[in-house]
Amino acid sequence: MLNEIENLRAEAVEAIGSADDPKQLEELRITYLGRNSRLTEILRGIGSLDPADRGPVGSTANKARQEIETLLNSRKEAVEAAALNESLAAGALDVTLPGRRAVDPGHLHILTQTRREIEDIFIGLGYGVIEGPEIEHDHYNFTALNHPPDHPARMLQDTFYVDPESLHIQPPPGPRDVVLRTHTSPMQVRTMESRPSPIFIIVPGRVYRRDSDATHTPMFHQIEGLALAPGITLADLRGTLLEFATAIFGEGRETRLRPHYFPFTEPSVEVDVSCFKCDRGTLPEGGRCPLCKGTGWLEILGAGMVDPNVFGWVQAHDHDPATSQGFAFGMGIERIAMLKHGVPDLRLFYENDIRFLEQF
Ligand code: PHE
Repeated sequence: MLNEIENLRAEAVEAIGSADDPKQLEELRITYLGRNSRLTEILRGIGSLDPADRGPVGSTANKARQEIETLLNSRKEAVEAAALNESLAAGALDVTLPGRRAVDPGHLHILTQTRREIEDIFIGLGYGVIEGPEIEHDHYNFTALNHPPDHPARMLQDTFYVDPESLHIQPPPGPRDVVLRTHTSPMQVRTMESRPSPIFIIVPGRVYRRDSDATHTPMFHQIEGLALAPGITLADLRGTLLEFATAIFGEGRETRLRPHYFPFTEPSVEVDVSCFKCDRGTLPEGGRCPLCKGTGWLEILGAGMVDPNVFGWVQAHDHDPATSQGFAFGMGIERIAMLKHGVPDLRLFYENDIRFLEQF
């Protein structure tokens, strides 16, 4: 019987040693120590043994039982610790690794970049940046800007008219003829209504015209400028725009003012800047410059001295047409970006083709 116990013990020790999951160990506990196990049977039957055998069998069986029990417990702990380590290792998170961006956050649209660049230049010159409504009264868009009632720009071909009732909003006070502003110039009048001279502001924003081809889209962006101060002249306009052109297109620029016509400025000019790609129309490597088409000049904006008739609409707001003086200018943001970056077609700005957008 002592041999049998020794065999059971040896068998249990080996089985426990090679068990590697808690369920298996529980089964071994039942097999070797359970109520129906051989060892339990032996211990239960001690009383019926020869009195001389009872002592040795009892102590051997008890020792075996204790050894198996201890072994089972320590093996269980080891197996559980190994399982925990394994699951920790599998889900490991190395918090010292540098972060990885899940998605490229992209960058600002070229038109936004260009607008901000222009704004920065004028802020540097002491101008403030303000915005105005895109849905505008005919009064501010045309009438107060000295457009006669039959001016062609008011025609349906050029202007989007808005039916205020169709907006399902309370129509703005004032006359019922409402347009999508065709330029940012209405803010000249709105600003003069709201503050006295001196005024130095620029107005970036969307404008709308019924136009669509490679150089016209129904919506585009302008930046208006208005500078009012006693004694300000066209020479100040020229100096300001030279400063601007140099900042945006690079050193060595010149400006050229050509006579033009706008209803709300007198005199009016178109402003050219010397081409930054060539020397007077000829490329450094020879040949006609494609950007300025060999002219050596790039048209960048319209401008002029504020017409006294415009001051007439705001004289109740401290702008006397007899003494008020200032200049205004308006440029297309798309046009500046096209010139600066050699973009051939205006529509590229709005097609959201990533191959185009990523170039800037
Ligand atoms: N508003 C004019 C246009 O859209 C540009 C302009 C602005 C001209 C200010 C003169 C003064 O063409």
